[in-house]
Amino acid sequence: MAPISRRQFLQGSSASMALALFGLAGRVDAATGKRYPSVKIGNIRELKVGEPVPFTYPDSSSPCTLVMLDQTAIGGVGNLKNVVAFSSLCPHMGCPVSYSKGRFVCGCHYSMFDPSKNGQTYQGLASQWLAQLILRHDSASGNIYAEGIEGLVYGRISNLKVS
Ligand code: FES
Repeated sequence: MAPISRRQFLQGSSASMALALFGLAGRVDAATGKRYPSVKIGNIRELKVGEPVPFTYPDSSSPCTLVMLDQTAIGGVGNLKNVVAFSSLCPHMGCPVSYSKGRFVCGCHYSMFDPSKNGQTYQGLASQWLAQLILRHDSASGNIYAEGIEGLVYGRISNLKVS
């Protein structure tokens, strides 16, 4: 491997810093090739176990929920890996799901999803799992950022709108 020059190193560092500063650090959506926005959705110091926080991502028409669980979760962030976020739209027919007692529940046909296991459906009519957000935790500030989505948000052919 060829050694990297000081100039190349600085150019790479500048590009990374620009991506972070301008909110461009999100994952690339495989369907569109577009980059997900990196959006601050909360601060871990303000979260309480079992108390959900609503937000929207990647745009204002996509409701989501951030929650700190009482257990480690797949895809969880924070020191205990227990902070997760999911789309709030049920993958069955798009009804809102709500967090209660360690699970997400759909009020239309009572599908239930396990937030500690990637949003796995364990009861009801939904045949797909709840779409899980990819999070990043900045341990210095406590900020939590959404930077992508695993799975498709209900009703979309792509999570990122094609302009
Ligand atoms: S819309 Fe959620 S289970 Fe049918």
